[in-house]
Amino acid sequence: MSKNTVATIQKQKEQGDKITMLTCYDYSMAKLMDEAGINTLLIGDSLGMTILGYEDTLSVTMEDMIHHSAAVARGAKNALVVCDMPFMSYQVSVEDAVRNAGRLMKEGRANMVKLEGGAAVCPQIEAIVKASIPVCAHLGLTPQSINAFGGFKIQGKSAEAARQIIDDAKRIEQAGASMVVLEGIPAALAALITKTIHIPTIGIGAGADCDGQVLVYQDMLGMFSDISPKFVKIFANTGDFMKKAFRDYIEEVKGGVFPAEEHTFRIDDAVMETLREEYKTEEKES
Ligand code: KIV
Repeated sequence: MSKNTVATIQKQKEQGDKITMLTCYDYSMAKLMDEAGINTLLIGDSLGMTILGYEDTLSVTMEDMIHHSAAVARGAKNALVVCDMPFMSYQVSVEDAVRNAGRLMKEGRANMVKLEGGAAVCPQIEAIVKASIPVCAHLGLTPQSINAFGGFKIQGKSAEAARQIIDDAKRIEQAGASMVVLEGIPAALAALITKTIHIPTIGIGAGADCDGQVLVYQDMLGMFSDISPKFVKIFANTGDFMKKAFRDYIEEVKGGVFPAEEHTFRIDDAVMETLREEYKTEEKES
């Protein structure tokens, strides 16, 4: 398998070959996903919730994103590395957006940046693309807007709201985005957008007809129970599996079963004898 790029991902859309994406936040997980053949890894600002324990994504900083992106990039041999721009790293000005996108590429070693929003962030998308940085847009239930939405609510259900999302999808494509995540919108609307625009759509809670799918890895591995959205499928309940391993470890340490002989390093008996002799008096005194 060779390196996934903007061009190979675009080709997958054209050939009807579904694009796979998972969130990823560290080196060893990146290696596992990469070796499994994932097309793209997203350092999502969902790390604010899954890794850092915040109740939403709003407190995530540029430093958080760079730190995790660089770790993922070191483990991703073939996957295209996409890094989220955190809340307020691009909304205030176009200049901020380009500078921060540049940091995610330069310090975080990402291959593409992702930002949330449609028409409102098109000037930012245009400027970032002009700086030779590929952009993934994000429409629908955009988590950085939960306060405006009044919670994690499915978007685009009315004709007016749906038209707005379709219009945003066309605009971000015109602005130069190379890919778009469609989150928490009706499946039929996502299918229509996927047919209408030429860049790949990656769905999460947006039905089967997107060009690709993304899930938060802790969700699909049953490792995160703070929220359980309807669109998540648990592919392996590793949360329970891990808890059992942790319990077994605790039991074995307390019971003196671990570490066993095979986990232990040896020293020459003669060396030990000398040491015991040497420290005899001290041992008695203590
Ligand atoms: O932050 C994230 O993990 C995301 C995905 C849910 C698409 O944006």
